[in-house]
Amino acid sequence: MKYYLTTPIYYTNAAPHIGHAYTTIAADTIKRLKTMQGFDAVLTTGTDEHGVNVERAAEAQGKSAQEYTDVIAEEFRNQWNILGLAIDRFERTTSDRHARCVQDLFIRCKERGHVYKGQYIGQYCIFDNLYVNDAKPGDPCPECGRPTETVTEENYFFRLSAFQDKLLDLYNSQPDFIQPETRRNEVIAFVRQGLQDLSISRTAVKWGIPVPNEPNHVFYVWFDALTTYMSAVHGEGLWPADLHLIGKEIVRFHAVYWPAFLMAADLPLPKKIFAHGWLLFENDKMSKSRGNIVRATPIHNVLGTDALRYFLLREVVFGQDGSFSYDALVGRYNSDLANGLGNLASRTLTMIHQYRGGSIPPSHGDSQIAEAATEAVASALDCFEKFEFSKALETIWSLIGRVDKYIVERAPWKLAKAEDDESRQLLDETLYTAAEALRIVTALLAPVIPESAEKIWSQLGFTHKVGEVRTRDLHWGKLAAGQSLGTVRAVFPGADPKLSIEKMRAREVEEYARQQAVLGKTVPKQEEPKITIDDFLKIDLRVGVVKEAAAVKGSDKLLHLQVDIGEPKPRSIVAGIAGVYPPEALVGRKVAIVANLQPRKLKGLESQGMILAASLEDTPPALVSFLEDVPIGARLK
Ligand code: MSP
Repeated sequence: MKYYLTTPIYYTNAAPHIGHAYTTIAADTIKRLKTMQGFDAVLTTGTDEHGVNVERAAEAQGKSAQEYTDVIAEEFRNQWNILGLAIDRFERTTSDRHARCVQDLFIRCKERGHVYKGQYIGQYCIFDNLYVNDAKPGDPCPECGRPTETVTEENYFFRLSAFQDKLLDLYNSQPDFIQPETRRNEVIAFVRQGLQDLSISRTAVKWGIPVPNEPNHVFYVWFDALTTYMSAVHGEGLWPADLHLIGKEIVRFHAVYWPAFLMAADLPLPKKIFAHGWLLFENDKMSKSRGNIVRATPIHNVLGTDALRYFLLREVVFGQDGSFSYDALVGRYNSDLANGLGNLASRTLTMIHQYRGGSIPPSHGDSQIAEAATEAVASALDCFEKFEFSKALETIWSLIGRVDKYIVERAPWKLAKAEDDESRQLLDETLYTAAEALRIVTALLAPVIPESAEKIWSQLGFTHKVGEVRTRDLHWGKLAAGQSLGTVRAVFPGADPKLSIEKMRAREVEEYARQQAVLGKTVPKQEEPKITIDDFLKIDLRVGVVKEAAAVKGSDKLLHLQVDIGEPKPRSIVAGIAGVYPPEALVGRKVAIVANLQPRKLKGLESQGMILAASLEDTPPALVSFLEDVPIGARLK
């Protein structure tokens, strides 16, 4: 049985970041879960490469649109490779096959009378590729707030208005077509208000798929982009999709436009649309202008992709907004992965090596733990099925906690010392129980943390891959006595919070610069680091009065001053102000000096401080002075 799922296809006017990774990782997890259930699961992602934004970005770099998108599509493809995601189809909207599919869809809609030619006058947001109905010139885009542009042009229109009832029927008859419930309600409310026909072609844009027999028209990006879900698997018998996984901001396109296009063309509809929430950075929206976008590869490099996968799916309730922070990431990594699962694995396997020569002892295991494991498996699978990842993981971790407690209570290290049969049997049972629980937990977690699960799996002595495990294998007692364990190695070495965060942040700066270079942009120079008030207070700035001033022999720039700053003896200071101030003009004048500078010799004279003066590179220095009367020795701060 097939299971076909998709992520959105990402725009090629930005490089991949953690938001894109979030959806793609979740999709990869669902694919692995479906595979575990025995489906032939196929996952499509890709890039959305047409539209005026790309046209403009390419132009700004003196590249053709195709050259420009080639580079960024590759960047996305690489990103998923680096993160080890099990992508089956990577479809680009610039492929020939895709163009033919879009044109076919249009022809099918047209033949059935759902498309007509008309005049569009209205507001358009080029950033979101969105026609904004009812907006007046200058109104902001409802999605991004940027000003909309007024456009007047001949367009093809899709008769969306005719699909209101059919769409409402669809939402009614298939209550789980749009999930979660909040998104479903929003869509229903939107459709109930009435739908306006939708412009599906443009003449002002060149970079797009041509409309058949209309040399001046290219398809509106959403008509083009949504069709990718079909073109990616064209002729493979995989359509309709079982799931479109998307972010919440593009629900309308997926739950209103897309099913309407398909109904108009007499094509099967996708089974489900699930919209997850927004990933924020430290509770703030991530955006270019805020400069708070986080990328996934630095995390992959420092803690591994599984740390990121686990964090995203455990920390954020799938369907709701959630926040990413490095602190929380490292916190979860240490508490749940290093000390939780990692510790259970190394402790269990080490004891079996130590007490049973690395061979799984014969036993049925502890019946209470067996029962707890059976319940945890059922409940976790049920949660996974509903995409309640966080709850599923919580359930699995309570089983881990339970097994930990059981080991402590049984104290195998004590049993191992006793010589009697009963202790020997109890030790067998304890070790078997821990290992069997570890086997089940590891297999159940493989879709979420595939790389680490594979490592634990081979340490448990399995020769097949953990990805080959099916849900029917998750029952208690499958682990065979006598199985030889592999070598024990730490799967989640503990991470020093400060050090690992510093490393991730440093890599983040590098990755940002690398991506900017790929996008053909230069990275603005880093700001000079700021100093703290304590740094500033290290400089002792004092008010003094010039007691004596004289020219310095052999120099036309330097003056030798005696400055009283309220100390027993005046300071000897050599200052480069001779060309500007005659010596006699300085006597009796109040000045500011740096009083704690290392003394140094100039022209054989000791200078015990520095006079403050202001200048630009090529302007004469002007001494710092005061409008009010200030006492000698006063500190500047
Ligand atoms: N090209 C369209 C989608 C066309 S689908 C037929 C598009 N592209 S996008 O590059 O802007 O990607 C948007 C998607 O990326 C979101 O729907 C979501 O899946 C993911 N995310 C991007 N930033 C995100 C967050 N900050 N948080 C969560 N998901 C985010 O829209």
